[in-house]
Amino acid sequence: MNKTKSIVVAGLMMGLGLAACNSGDMRRNPGKIYAPDMTYSRAYDAYTANPNFADSQTSRPPVAGTVAMGHALPDHLMEGDTNSYKTFTTDMRFTDAQMEEGRRLFNIYCGICHGTNLDGQGPLYASGKFAAMPANFKDGKYLHMPVGTMYAAVKFGKNMMGSYASQLDVKQRWMIIAYIKKMQAANGGDAFTMGMTETPAATQFDTVKVTKNTIIAENAVKVEAKH
Ligand code: HEC
Repeated sequence: MNKTKSIVVAGLMMGLGLAACNSGDMRRNPGKIYAPDMTYSRAYDAYTANPNFADSQTSRPPVAGTVAMGHALPDHLMEGDTNSYKTFTTDMRFTDAQMEEGRRLFNIYCGICHGTNLDGQGPLYASGKFAAMPANFKDGKYLHMPVGTMYAAVKFGKNMMGSYASQLDVKQRWMIIAYIKKMQAANGGDAFTMGMTETPAATQFDTVKVTKNTIIAENAVKVEAKH
């Protein structure tokens, strides 16, 4: 037993001794780096100064005139042009799943003021901490409001309501408006027209399936021909 103990103690001491060899900043062997390009990135980090650009910023805005993948084309609505607000519209149509997303976004961004019941009694206004009465979407004043006017309110803000342009992309804004319009339709508003039944994902999937099956079928024919 004593023997084992002394072996363990000796081992520990040797370990400590070896560790001591590498201590301090006098380590002469820098070790091997397997992929130096990966360890020391040549790319500029997003928020560091960049000598290649006049403004020294590494993060660049999108190139003018480009649209990010998956994003809708930009609208050309001008702030204050209330006449075009009224006629501005979209041909986007939303599936049930997207309507559900519209509801989720509404509850996140708008519900605090406009209320998750859309009655203008959101918790912020109800608490008395926000003086301006948010639009009550169930009220006659807003029931028939053109979708473009709603869109403009989201994009540019309206009096005490701020703009949501930086938080919501074009499609998300319309998704929310579609949700409001659907709720309004159920409360005496105009008939809801922004919905669609088939899901675009499913359509795409079908196309892929058809192509795949066609290829399989074509190959089968080829195989048959060979034999
Ligand atoms: C901080 C509170 C607040 C939030 C959050 C808010 N709103 Fe508003 N909203 C208001 C107020 C207040 C008004 C009334 C503005 C007025 O007419 O003076 C209003 C008005 C509106 C109107 C009517 C615009 C018009 O031309 O009369 C629409 C549409 C609207 N909001 C949509 C939204 C949507 C959609 C969201 C979420 C993306 C949202 N609001 C988020 C406070 C808010």
